[in-house]
Amino acid sequence: MSSTLQSLLGTETLATFETGGPPARGLPGTAYTSDAFFALENERIFTASWVFAGFAHELSRPGDAAPVTVAGQPVLLVRDANRRVRAFHNVCRHRCLKLVDAARNVGRTIRCPYHSWTYGLDGALHVAPYFGGRDPRAAPHGFDREQHGLVPVRSETWHDWIFVNLSGTAPPFDDFSAPIRRHLEGLDLTRVHHLVTVDMGEVAANWKLLMENFIEPYHVQFVHATTTEQPLADHYTVNEPGCLGCAVDVSGDATRKNTLSVDSRYLTLFPSFAFGLYMPDQIGVHLNVPLAPGLTMQRRAIYNLGPEPASPRRAGQLARLWRQVHLEDHAICERLQQGRVSDAAATGGVLSPVWENSVRSFQEMVVDHLR
Ligand code: FES
Ligand SMILES: [Fe+2]
Repeated sequence: MSSTLQSLLGTETLATFETGGPPARGLPGTAYTSDAFFALENERIFTASWVFAGFAHELSRPGDAAPVTVAGQPVLLVRDANRRVRAFHNVCRHRCLKLVDAARNVGRTIRCPYHSWTYGLDGALHVAPYFGGRDPRAAPHGFDREQHGLVPVRSETWHDWIFVNLSGTAPPFDDFSAPIRRHLEGLDLTRVHHLVTVDMGEVAANWKLLMENFIEPYHVQFVHATTTEQPLADHYTVNEPGCLGCAVDVSGDATRKNTLSVDSRYLTLFPSFAFGLYMPDQIGVHLNVPLAPGLTMQRRAIYNLGPEPASPRRAGQLARLWRQVHLEDHAICERLQQGRVSDAAATGGVLSPVWENSVRSFQEMVVDHLR
């Protein structure tokens, strides 16, 4: 039986989170460090929700396949013969071996390296050689090939962004994504061009710390002093059901060239999709993959909007700028992680009602999912 939220956090600590304050408390340190808490998040959040899992441009040709991790489980994204992206559990139906272990083009079929069971790009099992005996085509009594195709995972591709829902029970994708789409009205996302991806590798911080950092504007002036010149007063939070984030409308005299001092929107879809819009035409999307309580893989894809992709020179400039910004954020998130093991983190710290109300809402969503 899985743990309960009360047993993991303690009734008293949970009550402190829920009723402590003002100002409101943050989640206790355990929520960021405990294996059991992480397991419960995988079970109740990452299995049940729409989870951003990969970039469609990385699967440009039929047969392109990419293994990804969702809720700690191996999932396979594949571009099929009709150019549609599909998702499957990345597990052979014979002995449950992880089927594809590196991104590659698999051709027309996906073949398991162990006993050569072979699947179509639609997941159907084509061949299970010698499974029934010496005849390569023999099937044992009671074995129905049609029942042993790859197990499909519900998926949706929204522009360049592939989402999956392992449980199959999340609300329709359009309902889930409506709150962020409302913020992006007027933006023609069909004109999005991928420029470059910044791979930040593994960050020694819990996934929630990366998300919380993304949606609070309080730290920007202090942590990003060299890469931005956005006065705190120009910022505000976005604190809506289904879309948490922050934004900045930069006053004219604070605009500088080659920094991030432009009107911006930092928007999320719970749990882990992070979308940055930098007016008038730049977009950055984070792929955050929780690997362990204190470990998250992160990549950032950078796009421009317009009739054509921006120049390679511009792409290089943006990659350098954003790598620096992420390094600044990650240094902080890793120190947050280190602080969370302290007994002094048990009561969760306190949150600004003005600049961190989006963080509070995010944490309430975590707790609501784990109840
Ligand atoms: S485990 Fe895949 S064919 Fe045997
Ligand atoms: Fe930041």
